[in-house]
Amino acid sequence: GAHILSIKQFERADIKRIFDVADAMEPYALRKKVTRVLEGAILGNMFFEPSTRTRVSFGAAFNLLGGNVRETTGFESSSITKGESLYDTARVLSGYSDVICMRHPAGGSVAEFAEGSRVPVINGGDGPNEHPTQALLDLYTIRKEMRSKGRGLDGLRIAMIGDLKHGRTVHSLCKLVSLFSDIQLTLISPKELAMPEYIVEELRMAGNKVTITDDLTHSISDIDIAYSTRIQEERFGNKEEADMYRGRYRLNQRIYTEHCQPNTVIMHPLPRDSREEANELDNDLNANPNLAIFRQADNGVLVRMALFALVLNVADQVDKYSREV
Ligand code: CP
Repeated sequence: GAHILSIKQFERADIKRIFDVADAMEPYALRKKVTRVLEGAILGNMFFEPSTRTRVSFGAAFNLLGGNVRETTGFESSSITKGESLYDTARVLSGYSDVICMRHPAGGSVAEFAEGSRVPVINGGDGPNEHPTQALLDLYTIRKEMRSKGRGLDGLRIAMIGDLKHGRTVHSLCKLVSLFSDIQLTLISPKELAMPEYIVEELRMAGNKVTITDDLTHSISDIDIAYSTRIQEERFGNKEEADMYRGRYRLNQRIYTEHCQPNTVIMHPLPRDSREEANELDNDLNANPNLAIFRQADNGVLVRMALFALVLNVADQVDKYSREV
């Protein structure tokens, strides 16, 4: 099987296939059926940067397919601290695993690791670069949310809000959206935290209409999706610099009611910053039925199950090794 390193490696037909397989995983994620299609297989879950959702949902997805998970979290538990290269680490760990998921604070490091690996490597986030599985679960969620409102993806209007410079989830999501040229994007950020120019260019080249602004309230009146992001403090030189931008684009129920259409879906890759002065997505939105943030996190399991099944070439055998519970 192939590595999953960037959204750029996919075409529209691949996305449809991944989403179809993800749909078929629902009975397993809901514990209505169990499968042992990956019985005996081992996932190496290598997270060199903090993670809750990505790490645990990769592990849960692999378990739900019948496989086992071996995990490394942080550099402290790895011989990388003794100067071992990513290449050597990958050579060794790929002898113990059937597939490896990896997150690393340095951009390009997952691809470097993949060079040394003898088994497929899935990018769980490489520095500010990309987070392709998040983008897939985000678009999968968008498709589901729109279907529940009787719509497709055609003519969709998405606003991305916040730290678009450092947010790898929005980088990958833009690259994915460029496969669907009639999706329109409004990119809302402080000028200093704007979406990288090359990504905007790629979108425009693909035919997507892109509007760039630093004004939140005047830009969210005519959108279907408000995709908020956290100020990525860990990618700034220091905390004081990040503090300058925190809380600048705050969505709460009042702003939503005053400025958004009533059906606007609210998304966020999470974690959201819940500190009072920083919160970009206020807790008072928790009762809003259009808040899709936890449905996004749930959908992560389905999409990651699909990716494992496809990468390990068992997508057509999941049901064969299943039983009802
Ligand atoms: N969305 C996301 O990547 O969350 P974690 O950092 O908790 O994995």
